[in-house]
Amino acid sequence: MKRYVILISGRGSNMDSLLDAGLPGACAVVISNRPDVAGLASAARRGVATLVIDHRGFASREDFDAALAAEIERHTPDLVLLAGFMRILTDGFVRRFEGRLLNIHPSLLPVFPGVKTHAQALVAGVRLHGCSVHFVTPALDGGPIIAQAAVPVQADDDEASLGRRVLAEEHILYPRVARWFLEGRLHLAGDRAQLAGEVAVGGSLHVPQVG
Ligand code: GRF
Repeated sequence: MKRYVILISGRGSNMDSLLDAGLPGACAVVISNRPDVAGLASAARRGVATLVIDHRGFASREDFDAALAAEIERHTPDLVLLAGFMRILTDGFVRRFEGRLLNIHPSLLPVFPGVKTHAQALVAGVRLHGCSVHFVTPALDGGPIIAQAAVPVQADDDEASLGRRVLAEEHILYPRVARWFLEGRLHLAGDRAQLAGEVAVGGSLHVPQVG
C-alpha cells in the first residue's frame, strides 16, 4: 500500500479533507512545526500518528529541514503533502522530495503567491479567484501547476467570505489530486505536471454576468 505524510502548521482543515477522502494509501504520520495546533488533535482523533518538530528549537533553517527530512524518510513515503505548512523550505529539502512533494495554495497561481491571498485578490479587483495544487520546487509557490479551482468574486465579498468559498474548493481539489498521484496517474515531467487520462474541459466562464 502507498504511504503518504502530511505537514501542517495550524488548523488542518485541508489535512482533514485528505484523511477523510478514503485515499488509496495510508497516512504514515502528520507532522506539525508548531505544538498545540488544532490539526494535531484532529489527526489524533482520526487515529493517525502525529509528531511535532518545533522549528524554534533549531539554530538554522537547514538544521530544521534536515531533522524534518529525516523524520519523513523514516516512513519512506510515496507522497508528501503540504497542507497549510507555513515554512519556507530550503532548496535541499525540496530537491530531496521533488516529484513527490505537493502543496495547496489559496490563489489562482501564478498570481498572488505568498500570504494574505484573499486580501490581495480583493485589492487587485479580480473577478475570479481560487486555489491551486502544484508540485513544489525551490521557487516559492512557483512549481508546476497540477489543478486549479476557481470561484467568482462577489461585489460584497470581504476577506472572510471569499476565503470560505475558496477553502470549500480546496477541500475538494486537494484530495482529488492526491488520489491521482497515489493511483500513479500523476507525474512531474520536467517543468510540467503530467496527468494520465486528462480530458479537455469545454466552454468558458464569464464573470460577472448581468441578469
Ligand atoms: C489553506 O488556505 C491553504 O491553502 C494554505 O493555508 C491554509 C491552511 O488551512 N496553504 P488549513 O490548515 O488546511 O485549514
